[in-house]
Amino acid sequence: MRETLAEAVALPSVLATMVHSLIEAWPAPVYTQPVVTTRFLGTRTTYVCDPRLIHNLLVDQAGSLERERFMLRALTPALGAGILTADGAHWREQRRTAAPMFRPDRVRSFVPAMAEAARATRARWLADGSPGTVRDILPEMMRTTFDVIVATMVSGDSRLEVGPFGRAIDTYLGQTGWTIALAMLNMPGWTPHPGRQAGAEAARYLRRSVAETVARRTARGEPGSDLLGLLLQARDPETGQPLSDESIIDNLLTFVAAGHETTALALTWTLRMLAEHPEIENRVLAELASVEGDRVADPEAVDGLTYTRQVVMEVMRLYPPAPLIVRRATADIGLGDRTIRSGESVHVPVYALHRHDMLWDAPQRFDPDRFSPEAVAARSRYAYLPFGAGPRVCIGMGLALTECLVILATLLPAFRFVPAKREMPAAQFRVTLRPKGGMGMKIVARHGR
Ligand code: HEM
Repeated sequence: MRETLAEAVALPSVLATMVHSLIEAWPAPVYTQPVVTTRFLGTRTTYVCDPRLIHNLLVDQAGSLERERFMLRALTPALGAGILTADGAHWREQRRTAAPMFRPDRVRSFVPAMAEAARATRARWLADGSPGTVRDILPEMMRTTFDVIVATMVSGDSRLEVGPFGRAIDTYLGQTGWTIALAMLNMPGWTPHPGRQAGAEAARYLRRSVAETVARRTARGEPGSDLLGLLLQARDPETGQPLSDESIIDNLLTFVAAGHETTALALTWTLRMLAEHPEIENRVLAELASVEGDRVADPEAVDGLTYTRQVVMEVMRLYPPAPLIVRRATADIGLGDRTIRSGESVHVPVYALHRHDMLWDAPQRFDPDRFSPEAVAARSRYAYLPFGAGPRVCIGMGLALTECLVILATLLPAFRFVPAKREMPAAQFRVTLRPKGGMGMKIVARHGR
């Protein structure tokens, strides 16, 4: 009784912290203990940071888990029931139908389109007559990754406009802090909150733009060879069935939303971290010299960028674009010496896992050598989860990593990035991990280019 009263008194401040950034509401022991269980307003939540238990949970017991309701409440108004948000048979059908679209050979075939989008950004920045002005790098990177998505997914038929689309995603994600916090506190779905109306309008706009794009393509009668074409032609390998019209819209929007913002965040944090660490930047530049000129569009040359890849991996350790993996148990499951009861939430707090005292030496230090082949082989694969693990591992992982390398290889040799402020922006949870207040930097052309 007393406990409940204390919780009720604490509620407004807990709500405020959750809305501001869910990560700040995590209990401090998630950074030092393997498993932490909390109870708030009668709800038990378990946080798992032990790689062995994470493997057991996300791989061995995946069949007894589903998407957590508060994440669904945040995402389904925009994404419907696509691969990211569906569960059970509907998820399985869509996942196995779409899987061939993200095979390594497909991803490699997209490299020239990625290089073209990156070159467009370089040309835009070079043409800009005000090199000393501070710009927020996140929208710049969002524009570049959006161009990649349009070129690889809906080339020729896009009804997706980068400006309004990006703003709609911002508006939508901006209010998810409220949706998630209210859902976690068991408040009903209709509870009013700031940004709710604008979020609903943004979701409608996003779905309408994607539906129009699909309609244009279908009207042409020729599916095309980009990702939309592949989606339209995809057949379930078990049943031979195509995806429904609704499913095509859900998934195209899921790929656009899940794919471009996360990748833009990885790039944004990378540019900032390189600006902080000139000796690492120099090593990257030396490697990138091997792909200067047209070789950046050559998939084999991109495969050879091993140190640059290590840098991106290390950046995603400190700033994982998707900082939380969360599931709901659909049956009682054993996890080490604990039981997670049916209906309870299990969190893999990726941001904390990647900075965990027991797993990383000097966790706050930026050190891309942590991702040398030897260091990776000596560590559990489940200590590092920027793309998740198990059957629901990110379907676009290969695409995202290749895209990061192509964009860095095009932009970094041409520009220096000078942070507008000395302090690193705080990392804020908005489903993804965003730099609070943006990532202001000056973009300065390097000499002789
Ligand atoms: C750096 C960029 C990216 C990061 C960090 C990232 C991260 C993640 C993570 C952590 C998950 C697993 C979520 C969970 O288990 O609950 C996931 C799932 C997913 N991602 Fe990505 N992602 C990235 C890029 C992409 C791209 C480029 C696409 C597609 C074009 C994509 C599409 C998806 C989809 C569809 C899922 C759901 C998979 C399923 O549930 O079966 N992601 N992503």
